[in-house]
Amino acid sequence: MQDTIQKSNTSGKSTYVNNLFSKIAKKYDLLNNLMTFGRHLKWKEDGIKLALKEVKDCNKALDLCTGTGDLSIILNKLSPKTEIIASDYCDEMLQILEKKIINHDLKNINVKKIDSESIDFPKSTFNLVTIGFGLRNLVNKEKCIESIYSVLKKDGVFMCIDLGHPVNPIWRKIFFTYFYNLVPKMGELFARDKDAYTYLPESLKTWYTQEELKEILLKKGFTKCFYKNIFGGVVAIHIAKK
Ligand SMILES: C[S@@+](CC[C@H](N)C(=O)[O-])C[C@H]1O[C@@H](n2cnc3c(N)ncnc32)[C@H](O)[C@@H]1O
Repeated sequence: MQDTIQKSNTSGKSTYVNNLFSKIAKKYDLLNNLMTFGRHLKWKEDGIKLALKEVKDCNKALDLCTGTGDLSIILNKLSPKTEIIASDYCDEMLQILEKKIINHDLKNINVKKIDSESIDFPKSTFNLVTIGFGLRNLVNKEKCIESIYSVLKKDGVFMCIDLGHPVNPIWRKIFFTYFYNLVPKMGELFARDKDAYTYLPESLKTWYTQEELKEILLKKGFTKCFYKNIFGGVVAIHIAKK
């Protein structure tokens, strides 16, 4: 565990995170289903539905840190006309998404290798930008938020779904017992990678609280921001409007 913490604190964090996701890519969906008792897709659907309520015409969307593409696929199902760019910097994760696109003959999802820390699109390109369980892993989160703001059109919407900090102290204790003890064991058992599933709970320790993320989004220029806690704040959905 010590090794994991040190690696995640160095300037090589980005490479470390990329390697970590390369190694677990094939087991990523399985572990998500196991760790969340199959709930994560419903939470992601809630995030997309909340975002779509706020977007006027969702013609173009960018899904950052898409991984195996859950958010892009849900958005595609709920808004088939939206042209989606599903991006990540990890080839192994993107290959899995590409297979899903072919197997299910999905239209309007374009896979692109992009580092979320250096987003390079013209200003005012997208109606919607989403990021699921990704912002927490970035080295320069604020720079990424600034880029998101820039590439959104006026009235465009940013949706971030990620781990949260549970509000109720008793629930927090129960959840942390599970998260810090059982999750690494599940990673070891099912993905043969305890390291990756030790990094996951560790990354929560330096992650913004729900209120902090809201404040940062407003400070970066978003005119409206609210969040919804899920499962007592284990997960939070932030919606911010440009
Ligand atoms: C926990 S997964 C989330 C995947 C997916 N969005 C979901 O909700 O299941 C985090 C993803 O972020 C990607 N990632 C981390 N840092 C990144 C960066 N700097 N640029 C692009 N992708 C990054 C990883 O490769 C991984 O696929």
